[in-house]
Amino acid sequence: MKQAQLGTGLRVGMIGLGCAGMSGAYGRAQDERSIATIRSALDAGITLIDTADHYGMGHNESLIGRALRTVDRGRAVVSVKFGALFGVDGSMRGVNGRPDSVANFLAYSLQRLGTDHVDIYRPARLDPTVPIEDTVGAIAEMVGKGYVRGIGLSEVSAATLRRAHAVHPITDVQIEYSLFSRGIEDSILPTCRELGIGVTAYGVLGQGLLSGAYRPSPTDNAQTRGHLPRFAPGNVEINLGLVERLRTVAAVRGITVAQLAIAWVLAQGAEHHDIVATIGASHPERIVEAVGALERALSDDDLSAIEQAVPNAEVAGARYAAPLLALLDSER
Ligand SMILES: NC(=O)c1ccc[n+]([C@@H]2O[C@H](COP(=O)([O-])OP(=O)(O)OC[C@H]3O[C@@H](n4cnc5c(N)ncnc54)[C@H](OP(=O)(O)O)[C@@H]3O)[C@@H](O)[C@H]2O)c1
Repeated sequence: MKQAQLGTGLRVGMIGLGCAGMSGAYGRAQDERSIATIRSALDAGITLIDTADHYGMGHNESLIGRALRTVDRGRAVVSVKFGALFGVDGSMRGVNGRPDSVANFLAYSLQRLGTDHVDIYRPARLDPTVPIEDTVGAIAEMVGKGYVRGIGLSEVSAATLRRAHAVHPITDVQIEYSLFSRGIEDSILPTCRELGIGVTAYGVLGQGLLSGAYRPSPTDNAQTRGHLPRFAPGNVEINLGLVERLRTVAAVRGITVAQLAIAWVLAQGAEHHDIVATIGASHPERIVEAVGALERALSDDDLSAIEQAVPNAEVAGARYAAPLLALLDSER
C-alpha cells in the first residue's frame, strides 16, 4: 500500500483501520467478524490500527489483542487514545490528562492489547485543567522507558499542537476530516504541515453517511448515531441528498461513493503524503472497498466536481452535539 509519512518519520499505509465500530459505536458488532476485518486490513497493507481504552470499556483493546496474537506484532502500528471518563450509565464525564494518571491508563491498555508497547499514544481529548506540556511530558517518560513509540494528539487546536510539539515531537493529530467536515483546513492542517506533524483523519465516511449505503434505521438510538446532529430528522434527509449528488459524480468515474469520499481525503494530502484516512469498519468487505480507493487518483476536474456537489455550507448539522463539541479544543 502507498505510504504516508507522519511526524518523526513514522511511515504507515495511507488507509488506516478505526476499530470503534467493533465495540458497539454503531450498534451490535460481532467479535469474530471484527477480528477477520483486522486481519484482512493487515493483509491488505493497512498498518495503522486505531483504538481507545474507552471503546467498549476495554473490549476494543482486548479484541485487537486477540487479532494480533497470531500476527507479527511489527506489522501493526497500534494507536491508542486514553483519558476519556465515563459514568456507570455510559455518560461521558470529562477527561483526565493528569501526568500521574498516564502510566496507570497505559498499564491497563498494554495488558488488554497483550503487547509490550503502544506505537502511538494520545490523550483522547485535551484536559482543560492540565497544561498540555504536562500530559505530553508524562507520555514522553513512557517513550523513554520503551512502552510508547510515538506521541499523538486528538481534536486539538493549532495553538495546543505548537505547545505539545515543543515538549516532544508529535507524530500525528487524529481529527475529523471529510467532505462534510472541513474545519481543519483553516489553521490546524497548515500548522501540522509547518511542524511536520501528520494527520490521521477520522469520520472520512461521515460516520457512515458518506458510505453511500446508509439509510435511517430504528437501531440509530442515543448510544449510536442518534446523538449525532447530522443524523437527526430534518438534517439527515438534506445530507442524504448531498450523498445522492456524490453518487452521480462517483458513477461517472466508475467508483463507489465511499471510494470517492476516501479518495477526496487522500487527495488533500497527496502533495505532502501526510494524511491517513482512518476508516471505521467491522466487515472485511469494507476493507476491499476502501483499499480500492487508492487505485483511482482524482484529477483536478474530479476534485472540483466533488466539491461542487457538496458545498460545505449545505451540510446540515454540526459534527457533534453541543456537550461533546464543547470538549473539542479543535473547535476553539
Ligand atoms: N479521535 C477521535 O476523537 C475519534 C472520534 C471518532 C472516531 N475515531 C476513530 O476513527 C475511526 C473511524 O471514524 P468513524 O467511525 O467516525 O467514521 P467513518 O469511518 O466515517 O464511518 C464508519 C461507519 O461507516 C461504515 N462503513 C465503512 N465502510 C463502509 C462501506 N464501504 N460501505 C458501507 N458502510 C461502510 C462502517 O460500517 P461497519 O462498522 O458496519 O463496517 C461504520 O458504520 C473510529 O473507528 C475510531 O477509531 C476517533
